[in-house]
Amino acid sequence: MTEPVTRRTPGKEPRISTGVPGLDDVLCGGLTPSRLYLLEGTPGTGKTTIALQFLREGAARDERALYVTLSETSDELRAAAATHGWSLDGIDLYELVDEMGLDPDSEQSILHPSELELGETVKDVIARVGETKPDRVVFDSLSELRLLAQNPLRYRRQILALKRFFAKRACTVLLLDDKTSETGDVQLHSIAHGVISLDQMAREYGSERRRLRIVKMRGIKFSGGHHDFALETGGIRVFPRLIASEHHAAFDPVAKSTGSAELDLLLGGGLVPGTNMLLLGPSGVGKTTTAVRCMKAALERGETATYYLFDEGLATLMTRAATLGMDLRPHVESGRLTITQIDPAEVSPGEFATMAREAVEKRGSSVVVIDSLNAYLHAMPGEEFL
Ligand SMILES: Nc1ncnc2c1ncn2[C@@H]1O[C@H](COP(=O)(O)OP(=O)(O)OP(=O)(O)O)[C@@H](O)[C@H]1O
Ligand SMILES: [Mg+2]
Repeated sequence: MTEPVTRRTPGKEPRISTGVPGLDDVLCGGLTPSRLYLLEGTPGTGKTTIALQFLREGAARDERALYVTLSETSDELRAAAATHGWSLDGIDLYELVDEMGLDPDSEQSILHPSELELGETVKDVIARVGETKPDRVVFDSLSELRLLAQNPLRYRRQILALKRFFAKRACTVLLLDDKTSETGDVQLHSIAHGVISLDQMAREYGSERRRLRIVKMRGIKFSGGHHDFALETGGIRVFPRLIASEHHAAFDPVAKSTGSAELDLLLGGGLVPGTNMLLLGPSGVGKTTTAVRCMKAALERGETATYYLFDEGLATLMTRAATLGMDLRPHVESGRLTITQIDPAEVSPGEFATMAREAVEKRGSSVVVIDSLNAYLHAMPGEEFL
């Protein structure tokens, strides 16, 4: 059996990647291997997608991956994966319930002989795992197991049996649950080593908002609270909530010119790196123009800048700046200026924070303009705590 490839830091337990961009950051490194996790969320929140990403990550590292499916057939799964451009080669797809399992004659009586107690379903899983010795296992989903178990007590015993069985092997297990049980499964939460909860909210306007929260994760200092994520063709990307205190960088706090001698004089030399400037004023007073002026001065010094446009169109901004004698086109062409138009209805706050972070960390932007903050706040409805 191949050992899972793990990241080892001294004094810390090894971690394995979830295969979901951003989720490892939320978990501060990934999942502890050989544990059992619960991934819960109402239907359509993206459980299967995360599970497939998790197994594909394993397969890419030459680990053995097993997908036990009760809810979808393997053909359906393959087709769904294909819409993301994924092949499921290297992943063992195991359809647990065939027509036999749904046969009314196979229902057992109320008085179970002890060997029947565990249920055929669970026994089949145990047999398959024993055969193929996978490193990563996904069980999709528990709600079907709950249905097949016929009564809550039996269901709980099955879950415990599964947990005990997996505890003895070096398998990292994801149990998916669609939260359809009436009582909200608290016991399930205590059985699992970690619980990740997904939810989606429909909004008055614009696309739905998807969020993820680590409910618990034993032995890991994870980043708490809700993190936005996007489910797009190509899979799920998580946008870890921005925690400013975690991102300190050294810089030279010497004021830099705004490009206007008078404004520099007023500001005592210009704008100081590492600070925020808020341009306030009624519409038409010249906020955009001032911001563009400061940015252009930075660009002319050879710095990199990013401009986020909420209010107006890209073409409007370019022409407006050009008529005022500030042609931005050469800077866009040289690649040092990135102007991004944001459709507020489509971008979640977390995604925007990640975009801004990448602008600074990856593209090295020394100037970031958000035009305007008002539009940004209005675009994120219900985000009064932003
Ligand atoms: N190719 C794709 N491109 C973009 N979005 C997609 C694509 N395929 C699926 N989706 C989105 O993913 C959602 C389904 O995700 P997924 O199957 O992972 O959810 P789930 O939580 O497993 O749902 P269920 O509880 O029904 O099994 C769809 O509702 C759709 O919004
Ligand atoms: Mg699913």
